[in-house]
Amino acid sequence: MEMETLTSQSTDEIREREARHILQTYKRAPITFVRGQGVRLYDTEGREYLDLLSGIGVASLGHAHPGLTRVIAEQAGTLIHTSNLFYHPYQGQLAERLSRLSGLPRAFFCNSGTEAVEACLKFARRYWHTRGEPRAEFVALENSFHGRTFGALSVTSNEHYRTPFEPLVPGVRFVPANDSKALLAAVSSSTAAIIAEPVQGEGGVRPLTPAFAMAMTEAASRTGALIIADEVQSGLGRTGYPFYAPVLGLHPDLISIGKALGGGVAVGAALVSQKVADGIALGDHGSTYGGNLLACRAALCFLDELDAGGLLGRVSRVGDHLERQLRALAGRHPLIKEVRGSGLMWGLELTTDAAAVVQEALTRGVIVNRTAETVVRLLPALVITETEIDEALGRLDAAFVAVGARG
Ligand SMILES: Cc1ncc(COP(=O)(O)O)c(C=O)c1O
Repeated sequence: MEMETLTSQSTDEIREREARHILQTYKRAPITFVRGQGVRLYDTEGREYLDLLSGIGVASLGHAHPGLTRVIAEQAGTLIHTSNLFYHPYQGQLAERLSRLSGLPRAFFCNSGTEAVEACLKFARRYWHTRGEPRAEFVALENSFHGRTFGALSVTSNEHYRTPFEPLVPGVRFVPANDSKALLAAVSSSTAAIIAEPVQGEGGVRPLTPAFAMAMTEAASRTGALIIADEVQSGLGRTGYPFYAPVLGLHPDLISIGKALGGGVAVGAALVSQKVADGIALGDHGSTYGGNLLACRAALCFLDELDAGGLLGRVSRVGDHLERQLRALAGRHPLIKEVRGSGLMWGLELTTDAAAVVQEALTRGVIVNRTAETVVRLLPALVITETEIDEALGRLDAAFVAVGARG
């Protein structure tokens, strides 16, 4: 059968085919996007949407970014993949750039956030194994989300994700986020590492407090436990900073990254300190695709934009504007209980389930999403302008009016 072009199929046809052949793990909105430009997406009917979610924080340079498009096309026409059996020119360059950004000298490349977390957990265990004092335990936070593979799922707190797949990796203790006393009590000389998202993303855009970060540092220095910062969502400029951990005064031994790094090309990484790297031996971990030429070129392009292109500075400025507009929105709509976030990562905590607002926003051509049930989350592309924010928030305001009118 000849492949049908995207636009020749209706959303109904696409849905019917998926219903027959796609493993049903996702609840999709009945919209088919076929094209994007900057922060705008277009569906099969030619309708335009303002994308305040960027594919859950992935399309960091916006859609169809000219520089990224050129780099991907050029690399695809030259060499996409050779495996990690050989050298190529870009993996070392990318690792060097990430090292400069994070202060952690070494990188392991993979293809997603969950794999980055998985690598961090394994490297933490390996560190203690190499020292001849094996430690199996991890301390993680309630409300956390680290991914869906077994290791990452084991440090993810949500019972709904965990229960059907138990038993998970043993030895994980959960403590409430920002409860320093509970953390200090849970971390012991059996703890291999403490893992935390500096801003809990899926958990409702909840930044950790500097006081809690201080308790993490104290617990780690008292017991030797390593610190893993999961910056898959909060890292790489999203909050207006290269990473959010240092903003809290936290200096992790390992950082997991993904999402924004490839601007849509699948790439993740575990960034590790020299102390941890010293415990890793040849063959300890690997990935067939990890850090191939295409992924590294895309990531290098993203990092070029982030620093040389001035994107990081822009995120702070535009993020301040977004924050002001969101607080004004909250002032107009009693449905909004709290506004949380930093840079271009924001959550609106509602007094009710966020589903209705997300749906009303969608019908008005704005893409946001619901997380932690009552939170409307915004993760726009880092290139969004103040004018685009104003246009999108005008539509979001109308969505809140519609939901508010229903009572
Ligand atoms: C903090 C954090 N860690 C890990 C992951 C998992 O990333 P992926 O879906 O790319 O495996 C996510 C995804 O939302 C995340 O937000």
